[in-house]
Amino acid sequence: MQNLLEAKNLAHAYDYPLFEDISLSIAPKQSIAVVGVSGSGKSTLLHILSTLLAPKKGSVHILGKDIYALKEKERLAIRRHDVGIVFQSHYLFKGFSAHENIEVAALLAAQSIDEQLLEAFKIAHVMQKRVTDLSGGEQQRVSIARVMTKKPKLIFADEPTGNLDRTTAYEVMDVVFSYLQSEDAGLFLVTHDMELAKRCDMVYELKQKRLVRIS
Ligand SMILES: Nc1ncnc2c1ncn2[C@@H]1O[C@H](COP(=O)(O)OP(=O)(O)OP(=O)(O)O)[C@@H](O)[C@H]1O
Ligand SMILES: [Mg+2]
Repeated sequence: MQNLLEAKNLAHAYDYPLFEDISLSIAPKQSIAVVGVSGSGKSTLLHILSTLLAPKKGSVHILGKDIYALKEKERLAIRRHDVGIVFQSHYLFKGFSAHENIEVAALLAAQSIDEQLLEAFKIAHVMQKRVTDLSGGEQQRVSIARVMTKKPKLIFADEPTGNLDRTTAYEVMDVVFSYLQSEDAGLFLVTHDMELAKRCDMVYELKQKRLVRIS
């Protein structure tokens, strides 16, 4: 089967070079974790792979399409339908309820809300609350549920369980991992939790401007 994602020879720089010559691919049902010290460029790499930021060098193919060679409109369509991004700081619509946040994602992607998912994430009972009234961990789970409601082929998650205790984090990730199996989807996970990283098929470390496979 075709790879969901294929990145070749990526390089990026802000004031100074951040990383270079990064290549990786994600096949259906496959998960990749990336670890690395703060500031090494993990979030930047995630943004490049997930349609949000054009790299200085290299290419990213998603479902066979060279995403930064596409017109903005086509890239947006891929972002909307095929890609789910869980940001490091959750970007929920403040002032709206958890339910409304998830409903918007469902409408945009023409999917329905999966009540079982909300139960599995233990957030079904807080859906009517305003996002600002939720705990940090609840917000994080609403963010992940919102992304999964889109039924994306690729999930990009930047420290998705940073606010969760280990038990809850593992329960949430169990749901994500079984989603990969049932939907033939792929996962790119940034985490500081090495044990969690090791539950992925491959673990890479971003170190000295390179992506090195460590497990
Ligand atoms: N838009 C930007 N403009 C200029 N510099 C940036 C920008 N975004 C990130 N950087 C810099 O690039 C470096 C890498 O940032 P990035 O957010 O990718 O790191 P990270 O590995 O995700 O770190 P953390 O573990 O703290 O989340 C940092 O030094 C950061 O200050
Ligand atoms: Mg980061």
